Amino acid sequence: MAAMAAIARQGAAASKGRMMMMYFARSVSTTKAAPITMKSADEQADPAPGIVATKEPNMKNFAIYRWDPDRGEKPYLKTYTINTNECGPMVLDALIKIKNEIDTGLTFRRSCREGICGSCAMNIAGSNGLACLTPIEPDPKSDTIISPLPHMYVIKDLVVDMTQFYSQYKSIEPWLKTKKPAPGGKEYLQTKKDRLKLDGMYECILCACCTTSCPSYWWNPDKYLGPAALLQAHRWIADSRDEYTKERLEALDDPFKLYRCHTIMNCAKACPKGLNPGMQIAGIKQKQVTSR
Ligand code: SF4
Ligand code: SF4
Ligand code: FES
Repeated sequence: MAAMAAIARQGAAASKGRMMMMYFARSVSTTKAAPITMKSADEQADPAPGIVATKEPNMKNFAIYRWDPDRGEKPYLKTYTINTNECGPMVLDALIKIKNEIDTGLTFRRSCREGICGSCAMNIAGSNGLACLTPIEPDPKSDTIISPLPHMYVIKDLVVDMTQFYSQYKSIEPWLKTKKPAPGGKEYLQTKKDRLKLDGMYECILCACCTTSCPSYWWNPDKYLGPAALLQAHRWIADSRDEYTKERLEALDDPFKLYRCHTIMNCAKACPKGLNPGMQIAGIKQKQVTSR
């Protein structure tokens, strides 16, 4: 009984992190250290290590956008019901459970499961976010609607075409550009104070949650660069080692590329990393004014 109680407490502490859960699961259920075996991402995710199903199932509906270009059907919402006590706490855990157990055809992107790769961005219950960082809404009575990132071309189900997003990112030349060789032929150094100027920008994982929540981008996706690309542009403009600041500012001095931003700030609300692209866009505009 004591061991069962310990395992139940583990389940309650699930939100403290999967790695912690894996460690405790081993320590309470065995008398000596079990050998560590490598598992695939899907095996790790379903059922989640350390998550112990309680006797009372917690059934929940997920209404998921489905569209397969090869089937010639219109897009539709398909509802799946799962016991959320049998999977991890995040929306991505629910999606993996559905794909593994109910519908292997369900298509979505994911990789890191830790909010690092940015690939699981989607619209969850009306807000853009990362499925791996968004907790499952606990109320079993409310269905969770999951759809692709808005105003993007859909390739299949929750997978959108990111080609334009990446080409806009490429257009801001996201790499260090210099005119002089590195001192001593080694590396370009930066003071700690100058390095701090990149905080709030370097953390961007290019998930596109901000860009696809921006009304200005919805109306002019081919001309306006959008908050993610512009935040990245400011990251290089603000870098003390970069010697093309003037050229970068001139390249953005355009009524559409930059000045379609109307400071609506949906971007800041949507960013799962807590960044503020709207503020960085204002920073570019400010530097353009002072550099004239
Ligand atoms: S602040 Fe600018 S970039 Fe952000 S949502 Fe508004 S218009 Fe789009
Ligand atoms: S600024 Fe935030 S929301 Fe936008 S791409 Fe970067 S991490 Fe994603
Ligand atoms: S799977 Fe990598 S950010 Fe969600």
